[in-house]
Formats: sequence, structure tokens, C-alpha cells
Amino acid sequence: MNILILTGAGISAESGIPTFRDANGLWEGHDFEEVATPQGFACNPNLVQRFYNERRRALLDPKIKPNAAHIALAKFEQEFLAKQNSPAEPANQFLLVTQNIDDLHDRAGSQNVLHMHGELLKAQCLDSLECYEWREDLHVDTPHPEDPEDERRRGFLRPNVVWFGEMPIGLDQIADAASQADVFIAIGTSGLVYPAAGIVASTPRECRRIEINLDDTPASSAFHETIRGQATVEVPKVLESLGA
Ligand code: OAD
Repeated sequence: MNILILTGAGISAESGIPTFRDANGLWEGHDFEEVATPQGFACNPNLVQRFYNERRRALLDPKIKPNAAHIALAKFEQEFLAKQNSPAEPANQFLLVTQNIDDLHDRAGSQNVLHMHGELLKAQCLDSLECYEWREDLHVDTPHPEDPEDERRRGFLRPNVVWFGEMPIGLDQIADAASQADVFIAIGTSGLVYPAAGIVASTPRECRRIEINLDDTPASSAFHETIRGQATVEVPKVLESLGA
């Protein structure tokens, strides 16, 4: 059996990370064109670095932890992949695609995680495109980790996140997993941002499509089952009903 999961900001909301579009969401009070586009970064790198520095610090606050939904997904994956019904059947496959730039799925122990919108705890060199683990603030004159003494290499690091107008990560792998999915579950995503919002439509007709969200979304009509409630409550129940 092949299972594909897509998560959005709603799964991390109960861990204390604000979503983008709900009341008090991240885009309220921020013009996303200023802080989440390559043009915004070119115009005002200080502002963009500050925006992501604040989010990185918030993510690293010891109070922020994976919640019951992240943990249930990690546990399910482990049990599901360990189970082989019969040697004649193809091995179970599991892919968790997240739009979230936090690391809560990783901290919960999920193994097959694809961060399609990048990772806040990584920095990317604008020159070499190399990525580095990063937990500190970034500034317009941050020394380069490969060559901290070289003045000419200062300020080449950006947060390793995908901005509007940039290509999300892993689209080929996502398309492959979607085309072979037997079960697709979208959790806590508003269904407004493409290409993530289009994944459901690229799963096979016979794929069981489940949406877990507090509310209806523009994508809801593409799902067979729409479950309304909090991710921490509904995700463990749905996974249990699938049986690892
Ligand atoms: P949004 O903020 O657009 O949507 C969050 C969704 O989660 C909403 O549909 C809420 O109803 C739902 N939700 C909130 N709390 C929930 C809870 N406790 N349990 C279940 N559902 C809950 O966030 P995303 O869909 O992730 O992209 O946004 C997609 C992309 O838009 C983000 O990755 C980001 C953003 O702009 C980039 O920055 C490129």
C-alpha cells in the first residue's frame, strides 16, 4: 500500500506556531511580497532576514514541541513500513510532504519527510546554493561558514525557504508518490497555495482521499472524506482507523 500525507500550518498550530491565513496568522500585518519573494529580498534584505530571524527564534523556544498529530504520524510511519503483509506484495511506501518550514515532523521522528517549501533551520549560500544547518540569526553581513575570515563572502546566506515565485522542492518525487497513492491525507492546509493544493487532483481516481481541517477549504470537494476538527484529535483517530 502507498500512503501520501500532505501537511500545512494547521498541524503545527497546536504546538504554538501561528498559521499564515487564520486570524492573527503570519500574513496578517505582513505583506508577503515584501518578506516572501526574491524581489522583496533584493529590495530589503534586512527586513526579510528580520522576519525569518523572529520565526527561527520562536521555533527554537523550548516551549515549542511536536504535538500529538506529529507524533502519531511518526509512529504510524514506523509501524506501517515495518509491516509487510506477504512477501509477494510490494513493500509499503510512505511519504510525508510538508509545506511547513518548521522541523516538528523531524523532531517527532518522521523519516520520509519532504519539506517542499524548505527548512527554516537551514541557510543557503546565494552563490554556491550549498545548504548549512542554521540556528542563529542571519544578517546582511553574516560571515560565510566555509570562510568566516573572508570579508568578500559576508552576507551571502539566505534562509533556506521557498519564496513565492520560486520552485518548490521535490516536485518530481511528489508527482510520483501522488500517482501511486492508495491513500492521500491532507492535514491543516488551506488548499490555496499551488502546487501543493493540486496534489489531491493528481492522485488516482480510486485513491482514498481524506482531508482533516478545522473548516472547509476550496479543495474540500476533491476529497472523499472531510473530517472537521483539530489535528491533534483527528489525526491519531484517522491513522488508527487505517491500521498500521
Ligand atoms: P494556511 O495558514 O493557509 O492554512 C492553515 C489551515 O489549517 C487552515 O485551513 C485552517 O483551517 C487549518 N487549521 C488551523 N488550525 C488547525 C488545527 N488545529 N487542526 C486542523 N486544521 C487547522 O497554511 P498552509 O495551508 O500551510 O508558503 O499555507 C500554505 C503555504 O502558504 C505555506 O507553506 C506558506 C504560505 O504562504 C510559503 O511561504 C511559500
